Amino acid sequence: MKDLHKIQESDVKNIFANIESHDENDAKEADLRMKNLRKMQEPDIEKIVAIIESHDEDDAEEAEYGYRKMSGIDNNYVYEVNGEIIGITGFSIPAGCEQTYWLSWTYIDDKHTNKGHGRSMLGEIIAYIKRSGGRKLFVKVSDYVDPEDGAIYAAALHLYQSLGFEIEVTHKDFYDKDESQIILGMRLKDKEVVDVEDDNCNVQFDGIFEIAETENAYSFNWHDKGKYPLKAKEVQIGINAVRDDDARAIFLSFPSNLTKIEAPLLQSGFINTGILEDYYDDGIDENHYSLYR
Ligand SMILES: CC(C)(COP(=O)(O)OP(=O)(O)OC[C@H]1O[C@@H](n2cnc3c(N)ncnc32)[C@H](O)[C@@H]1OP(=O)(O)O)[C@@H](O)C(=O)NCCC(=O)NCCS
Repeated sequence: MKDLHKIQESDVKNIFANIESHDENDAKEADLRMKNLRKMQEPDIEKIVAIIESHDEDDAEEAEYGYRKMSGIDNNYVYEVNGEIIGITGFSIPAGCEQTYWLSWTYIDDKHTNKGHGRSMLGEIIAYIKRSGGRKLFVKVSDYVDPEDGAIYAAALHLYQSLGFEIEVTHKDFYDKDESQIILGMRLKDKEVVDVEDDNCNVQFDGIFEIAETENAYSFNWHDKGKYPLKAKEVQIGINAVRDDDARAIFLSFPSNLTKIEAPLLQSGFINTGILEDYYDDGIDENHYSLYR
């Protein structure tokens, strides 16, 4: 060997720095290929919140809180036409998954809808996520029917499906009674055949919380370091706790290779509400369960 030597401890830092710089370069190069989208910046927040408000005041409030106090504005992109910002889109990357993406707040200013901007904005962000290595992309949409404005998310649902998303899970009465959550997914890469190992760890619940953006829908915090398999009577303790908080419904989800969790859930009255296919990685879905009052 002339130019090669065995990796030594002292090489590791350089190797990681090299990989990181390639990742950064890939992201920069992908950014450069955007047409009407550019990264959202702090001064854009006010305009973006006004765009969201042109459709729904509650969404605008939630989004502003998210941008300013919770998740920030990283991975959000504004859509500009002739120097004017008329839309917002972006993505988030869930922890513990292999190249899984979620679309985040996606809006076109009400004054500019139905002219093809939404389709072209979504086309651009999907292409960007694909270039960034995305394997599977998900999006959530509500089926809310406003007493005055009708089904305000119907155009979004139509657009997502016409771009290739498919409905994977519907959580009935999720946001509120008579307002469901529809989760759609789209593959960005061909599926790989992988040998998935069962995970026999013991799930334990260790908290309850009201799900953001919902009226009295709850979920449980959990960890997988339990000393013994979860029992139905322990699930019942969680159910009683959220009932004391006036919960309407409980929504839970787990990786499909966790072998010991489904039985105690079903014994406690939860029903299987569907799967997000290949959510964690090819071959590992996310199984969804719900329980209503
Ligand atoms: C969804 C949204 C971004 C689309 O933007 P847009 O610029 O109007 O999109 P386009 O003009 O490219 O396409 C709109 C499509 O919806 C269709 N559409 C419009 N109103 C509709 C309705 N009430 N029901 C079903 N389809 C409808 C149009 O016919 C068009 O479809 P086509 O291209 O097949 O003809 C925009 O409507 C919006 O901001 N909606 C409110 C927010 C929202 O729902 N966001 C997503 C969920 S977080």
